[in-house]
Amino acid sequence: MIQAEKFDSPFKGRSLLTWLDYEPEEILQFLDYAFLVKKQAHAGEVHQRFLGKTIALIFEKRSTRTRSSFETAFGEEGGHPVFMSTQDIQLGGKESVKDTARVLGRMFSAIEFRGFKQEHVKQLAEFSGVPVINGLTDDYHPTQALADIMTLKENFGKLKGLKWAFCGDGRNNVARSLMIISAKLGIDFAIYSPKELFPPKDIQEICAPIAAKSGAKIEISSEISVVKNADCLYTDVWVSMGEESLKEERTKLLSPYQVNKDLMAATGKSSTIFMHCLPAVIGQEVTEDVFESPASKVWDEAENRKHTIKAIMLALI
Ligand code: CP
Ligand code: NVA
Repeated sequence: MIQAEKFDSPFKGRSLLTWLDYEPEEILQFLDYAFLVKKQAHAGEVHQRFLGKTIALIFEKRSTRTRSSFETAFGEEGGHPVFMSTQDIQLGGKESVKDTARVLGRMFSAIEFRGFKQEHVKQLAEFSGVPVINGLTDDYHPTQALADIMTLKENFGKLKGLKWAFCGDGRNNVARSLMIISAKLGIDFAIYSPKELFPPKDIQEICAPIAAKSGAKIEISSEISVVKNADCLYTDVWVSMGEESLKEERTKLLSPYQVNKDLMAATGKSSTIFMHCLPAVIGQEVTEDVFESPASKVWDEAENRKHTIKAIMLALI
């Protein structure tokens, strides 16, 4: 009998729907796994830790980085990833999420879901009986947040004592996930955005006591002074997937919040880095000079998607 290499973790069988479900020290454990698998990958080590395993990759929305990360990370470790767009499978057509979950749970070792409703990724976890990983919903993008934390740590050698500022659509999935992970890990986090696009009250209220415990300072403001002292300015598209009809309104609202040279200078630090989850719309949320500058860490950040996603899968599956 051929056996897969073992990867020990206390998280086997759990799902990752949002980092709210994990304790700070658990998140740091995932981060350690990510640094380990990145080191192994860069050393050219070949491992077969998913041998005999399968993962269903369900995508209701488009993806380059997330799909590529899941597919290559799982496949190169001997596993068999199966990409399923909702154009091809019954989900979203005549079959419910609950029934889809019960079928996939009989055939796959794990499920990744990228789509609209957080409720759907929850139902998949509830009814499939296998680990489910949220590859982005309207509400959260937890795998992105871990890659971003990894990129911060690589650049500054620490997390505590840092401050980063998300500039733009403060209510979107990425902003919320960064707020959660910052609150958990004690990293100061600012949202610089128009009032209309502040994160919803419920998520602010959930994060407040978590931040109080970790010592993270969370600030949400339309004043530029909120980016003062930021070690990193972070932005994302002004119009997320599924919101294309709001393009004009968002452009009007968000133009003053563009990350450009002046905004980078407003941190008051020459060491401030720039991050973006990508894909980017150059000339909208960020100017080309900032995006292409030495301060921009977007390609390291994109690469870290793969290492963190491999780490998450190794930990859970
Ligand atoms: N950042 C991110 O999730 O990219 P994709 O949409 O290409 O997966
Ligand atoms: N907020 C963006 C993130 C893309 C990775 C979206 O949901 O489209």
